[in-house]
Amino acid sequence: MISMNLLEHAVTYSVEQPGSGEVYDLLVRSGLFEGVTLTVGADEVGRAFAGSNLVVCARAHRSGQLLGVCRALTDFTRHCLVATVAVAPEAKGHGIGRGLIAATHEAAGGTEKIVLFLHSDPRACGFYEKLGFKRELDFFSLNNVS
Ligand SMILES: CC(C)(COP(=O)(O)OP(=O)(O)OC[C@H]1O[C@@H](n2cnc3c(N)ncnc32)[C@H](O)[C@@H]1OP(=O)(O)O)[C@@H](O)C(=O)NCCC(=O)NCCS
Repeated sequence: MISMNLLEHAVTYSVEQPGSGEVYDLLVRSGLFEGVTLTVGADEVGRAFAGSNLVVCARAHRSGQLLGVCRALTDFTRHCLVATVAVAPEAKGHGIGRGLIAATHEAAGGTEKIVLFLHSDPRACGFYEKLGFKRELDFFSLNNVS
């Protein structure tokens, strides 16, 4: 468990599966689905989280409110695919996205051992660049999903 002090309240990062309702609400409110034609419901989101072997939640220490989430798939040996990162609108800009990535990297095995990779929404590329991620030209995908 990693804790850090924000401006006026503490945030706790922990590896845990959030409830499908609370995480769906967070993803919608974060803006993650804005402009996306694919409609995903709470059931699909719950299934995606349940099928991911590393999920880190950021919660307000006192109230337990879900402030952010990072969902990843990792072999705990070399690779970690970050599939979803989202922060509640009222908590954005306080380092929680950065904290989620750091906590996920640590929980997967640490920066010396684990390569993080992801496909970014165009609106979030600057966020990953700020965190030190490098654009790669040799990643491939097979995508027939409409
Ligand atoms: C992207 C997101 C996770 C960032 O979370 P956050 O908690 O606000 O980010 P942080 O406060 O940790 O920001 C870390 C740094 O990145 C910068 N940053 C944050 N979002 C950014 C963006 N969209 N573009 C450029 N820079 C950004 C911050 O200014 C900060 O820089 P600093 O260290 O120089 O102050 C959040 O805005 C979000 O949930 N967006 C909607 C969902 C989404 O797009 N997820 C990513 C899908 S790939």
